[in-house]
Amino acid sequence: MTANIVALVLVALLYFPISSPVSALSSNYYDKTCPQLETKVTYAVQKAMMNDKTVPAGLLRMHFHDCFIRGCDASVLLASKGKNKAEKDGPPNVSLHAFYVIRNAKKDVEALCPGVVSCADILALAARDAVALSGGPTWDVPKGRKDGRISKANDTVQLPAPVSNISELQRNFSQRGLSMKDLVALSGGHTLGFAHCSSFQNRIHNFDATHDIDPTMNPSFAASLRSVCPMHNKVKKAGANLDPSPVAFDNAYYKMLLQGKSLFSSDQALLTVPKTKKLVSKFAASQKAFEKAFVRSMIKVSRISGAGQEIRLDCEVVN
Ligand code: HEM
Ligand SMILES: *[C@@H]1O[C@H](CO)[C@@H](O)[C@H](O)[C@H]1NC(C)=O
Ligand SMILES: *[C@@H]1O[C@H](CO)[C@@H](O)[C@H](O)[C@H]1NC(C)=O
Ligand SMILES: *[C@@H]1O[C@H](CO)[C@@H](O)[C@H](O)[C@H]1NC(C)=O
Ligand SMILES: *[C@@H]1O[C@H](CO)[C@@H](O)[C@H](O)[C@H]1NC(C)=O
Repeated sequence: MTANIVALVLVALLYFPISSPVSALSSNYYDKTCPQLETKVTYAVQKAMMNDKTVPAGLLRMHFHDCFIRGCDASVLLASKGKNKAEKDGPPNVSLHAFYVIRNAKKDVEALCPGVVSCADILALAARDAVALSGGPTWDVPKGRKDGRISKANDTVQLPAPVSNISELQRNFSQRGLSMKDLVALSGGHTLGFAHCSSFQNRIHNFDATHDIDPTMNPSFAASLRSVCPMHNKVKKAGANLDPSPVAFDNAYYKMLLQGKSLFSSDQALLTVPKTKKLVSKFAASQKAFEKAFVRSMIKVSRISGAGQEIRLDCEVVN
């Protein structure tokens, strides 16, 4: 009997560790302390989008990156200091931009409710707004995250890589409590934005021992990518949009994927097992089904908790 109880407690501890993702976040967390928070964040995102159409992609990617490393604790926003190189200065940072949007939102929020709202919450809200303002779905963001004090460039090796295969992606996501369905739905984030040549170079030059180009890639699509990304590409900014409508949050990504017109091996990998392939077809056929799944999975990602303890006053520096 006692042994059974001990075993149960042990199992419970294994499944629900101290930093369980199911922490006390709530939709109405700031209702009393900062009622105008969401309006301010939306305004900052909207304003930035007027001058720069790439802002939504930047914010969505930034939130994903934040949550996948040390949980959603705004570690991605911290600047390098002294000898410590922050995430921001790690290798996959080519895709990080639009930090100023968070800085501006934080400034407006601090003016209204000083010391109350975490940078991690502002980033989660900004990512939601980025999707909604690009024509995608909107949702209630659970709030109450705390900001962390650690950010290391080397941690970014934990992000899934664009060359990952399906089993690597599955492992990467399941480590964070995310399923294969989450993987497929969240990969739909690639309906927004841009990738540099280096991120899909492996598929268009020296693919493997027998193919120069990934044979699963549509040949004319591959040819167009090779023309912007030659073998020894010297143009640092060269690359391609992730789908043909890179500022619209739609399901075109899945339609392109089914045609062999995705950029990354990690996108193509979703077609390599029946379970994920079926979901790709489902989302390609129905924007509604995609949106529903995307919202569910985004809320899950945004609940990955970190070890954050404070409300940072400046999102780039620990208190
Ligand atoms: C499944 C694993 C994933 C891999 C391997 C991956 C990989 C990448 C890579 C390599 C880039 C391009 C970087 C560059 O060359 O500039 C990129 C861009 C992007 N990713 Fe992902 N990603 C993944 C999942 C996600 C998720 C879950 C989201 C959000 C829901 C997301 C949203 C984006 C967005 C919006 C961009 C465009 C960024 C921009 O244009 O500024 N990705 N991703
Ligand atoms: C990326 O990292 C390099 C140094 O490693 C840094 O010079 C650059 O500013 C970083 N980019 C962003 C957007 O932070
Ligand atoms: C970088 O991170 C990896 C995996 O998280 C770890 O194995 C490695 O020791 C780290 N390297 C440094 C220099 O900290
Ligand atoms: C994925 O890659 C790993 C090595 O990185 C390999 O061990 C594994 O067999 C690969 N899985 C598939 C399904 O190709
Ligand atoms: C996630 O993928 C990256 C890049 O392939 C790898 O370095 C990291 O170890 C993976 N993490 C997990 C938990 O599988």
